[in-house]
Amino acid sequence: MCGIVGYIGHRDAYPIITNGLKRLEYRGYDSAGIALYNGNGLELFKTKGKVAQLEVISKKRSSNAHIGIGHTRWATHGVPSDINAHPHTSNSGDLVLIHNGIIENYNSLKIALENKGFHFESDTDTEVLVNLIEYVQKTEGHKLGKAVQLALKEVVGAYAIAVIDNKKPNEIVVAKLGSPLAIGIGNDEFFIASDASPFIEYTKNAIYLEDEQMAIIRLEKGLRIRKIKDDSLVSPVIQELHFSLEQIEKGGYDHFMLKEIFEQPKAIKDTYRGRLVGKEGLIKMAGVDDHLDKFLNADRLIIVACGTSWHAGLVAEYIFENLARIPVEVEYASEFRYRNPVISSRDVVIAISQSGETADTLAAIKLAKSHGAFVFGVCNVVGSTIARETNAGSYTHAGPEIGVASTKAFTTQITILTLIALKLGRLKGTLEEKQYIETVRGLEAIPEKVSIALKENDAVEAIAKVYNQAKNCLYLGRGYNFPVALEGALKLKEISYIHAEGYPAAEMKHGPIALIDENMPVIVIATKKGHYDKIVSNIQEIKSRKGKIIAIVSQGDQTVRELADHVIEVPETLECLAPLLTTIPLQLLSYHIAVQLNRNVDQPRNLAKSVTVE
Ligand code: AGP
Repeated sequence: MCGIVGYIGHRDAYPIITNGLKRLEYRGYDSAGIALYNGNGLELFKTKGKVAQLEVISKKRSSNAHIGIGHTRWATHGVPSDINAHPHTSNSGDLVLIHNGIIENYNSLKIALENKGFHFESDTDTEVLVNLIEYVQKTEGHKLGKAVQLALKEVVGAYAIAVIDNKKPNEIVVAKLGSPLAIGIGNDEFFIASDASPFIEYTKNAIYLEDEQMAIIRLEKGLRIRKIKDDSLVSPVIQELHFSLEQIEKGGYDHFMLKEIFEQPKAIKDTYRGRLVGKEGLIKMAGVDDHLDKFLNADRLIIVACGTSWHAGLVAEYIFENLARIPVEVEYASEFRYRNPVISSRDVVIAISQSGETADTLAAIKLAKSHGAFVFGVCNVVGSTIARETNAGSYTHAGPEIGVASTKAFTTQITILTLIALKLGRLKGTLEEKQYIETVRGLEAIPEKVSIALKENDAVEAIAKVYNQAKNCLYLGRGYNFPVALEGALKLKEISYIHAEGYPAAEMKHGPIALIDENMPVIVIATKKGHYDKIVSNIQEIKSRKGKIIAIVSQGDQTVRELADHVIEVPETLECLAPLLTTIPLQLLSYHIAVQLNRNVDQPRNLAKSVTVE
């Protein structure tokens, strides 16, 4: 997820763009850049780091450029660096482009362009796109708008782009598919941005481009919107905005955490996008493909992580052992690093970390490497310390996770780990082809099913009102849902400050059942697939002791509905994919309880987003 801003009009473009980028830094902040047309030519400034760093290096810019584009990056391809920062220029230097999204087929396009004599400086998919547009423009003699339209027909992926042509610097061409793009309509001026926050003080009139639409923005001719597919003109729908600046940064949600909970359908899809290929469900992951021997010959997988990432590792234990029949050990990184573990060069260590900066996980990685183990990272921040320290890895494409409580990181980590387990299971022959395809299709159906689970938000909010004064809560789950019970308890603890414990449901009879009375809410994950009858028995045991039961059930469940005080439904899915759905109501429950208790949801007390100390 990146932030894009553009301007064309009578004002000085620079402050509009740089201030606008600062408002979009919640979308990404690992590098920033700006391109300005100063009346004689294009000036380009770009740097690793935040927009403040961009302002430092662009002090010497010519003043009073009235057209420009700018970008603040969240890296998906290519580490954060000056070279990989946007805008990217075409080989001729005439075209400059900014992009928010992922070009899935960039590699094949890059090879084709290299065969036509194009060269590339960066590791980004974006630089391929700007040169593809140049190639179309030069070989077919089209104006910029037509060249963009034809080039985008070759592209598979997601984009919100803005392009300027040095040869015709009185227009900005924009296009959208899968990533947001707003156009602010001012008096003799136009703004473009990922959301309205960069231009809200200049105009309240905005057009939100729809997927597969593009616009050519010229001062003298105004705005023309076309469909990329068939070039047909689109009548613009101008909306009058009533958001505050803060609401826009949070996408209209009250907190980043809620916004990120609701981003999960897109985050999960972006994470498998480009990795799950074609009808036969081929799984392509360079970090795995380049080291297949390590994975296929591993004696065991050791997963090291902390907090929510550790819970994702626990889910992965069930997934890898079931699908790929590889022994898995899941370790708290903070324990692993000090307990003098037995590690061999035939071990594969998987380090999971959203921030890529967690000190305990980093120390565990270094220990594993010192014993000759191959270490694979699953991170959300490209170029983070852990991403650089591991031998290989795969990035979740969740976009920045601003809320301290991890939500979309958890589900996208599980997505990555499921893809790896599927790939290895198919290669090792431990997974029948039928089950493989069924699981791949099941994973592809998850984003839509998460959207359905999110529709229970109001029902969950009402349940939260009943239990927000609880002093303790118990979370129970079996099998794949046991780690989800732990994760649900952690979510409640860390943002509402209510004590909560997660437990394997069968363990209840070994002690925790003594806690149960009419004051103890018990959240039970009781989806149909996997130990259903046994979890129903657990529910009956709780009920007989007057425990209050909030059950997460599969859509249409009637049995548990008869027993529980409240049920929250999630769509049916395969047992191994259930955590991607059952975690959703638990995220929402902890969120609403915390809000009702007036907690600082995005920055809970005592917590940091990245624990870079011991
Ligand atoms: C989870 O909601 C917490 N923010 C915390 O447990 C977090 O998961 C843990 O600190 C690990 O962080 P990482 O994924 O960035 O390594």
